[in-house]
Amino acid sequence: MISKKMIDALNKQIEEEFYSANLYLSMASWCDKEGLSNSAAFLYNHFEEESSHGMKIFHYINEMGGHAIVPGIKQPPFEYKSIHQVFEDTYQHEVYITEQIHKLVKLAIEESDYATNNFLQWFVEEQREEEATFQEILSILKLIGNGPTNLYFIEQEIAKISAKAHTDSSE
Ligand code: FEO
Repeated sequence: MISKKMIDALNKQIEEEFYSANLYLSMASWCDKEGLSNSAAFLYNHFEEESSHGMKIFHYINEMGGHAIVPGIKQPPFEYKSIHQVFEDTYQHEVYITEQIHKLVKLAIEESDYATNNFLQWFVEEQREEEATFQEILSILKLIGNGPTNLYFIEQEIAKISAKAHTDSSE
């Protein structure tokens, strides 16, 4: 039996996941505008992934006899100083999302809700992978540096990471 408190917390996480989707969509659009098409493609892909995370929780709540609520989503930022800022923000955002997932796991354990705890373990692993991917991007960006002529090399590296992340998520 899932508690009202757990359902409310999961509904809140739907909002976090859909906000993440919109945040990455906004970043993708900024990259597109700047001609950074590989970074844009990577972030469009991430928009889809985050939407699917939100829907995964959405369906789980209803399967468990709860009521999934379509959230209102605040507008994400749409201007960025640089591609470095975009990826620094993605990393910080994923760290924040991991904290939220861990709070949900803590609540499920406190409530002896083993089904929800089990359901959430997929997200625990997903967050570990996402943090690792964004951390890798930040390390590469740091190595390449932030001169305007370095954007070409950044785009090449993002394409490689994007291909790898896509292969991993389809395995
Ligand atoms: Fe679904 Fe990357 O948080």
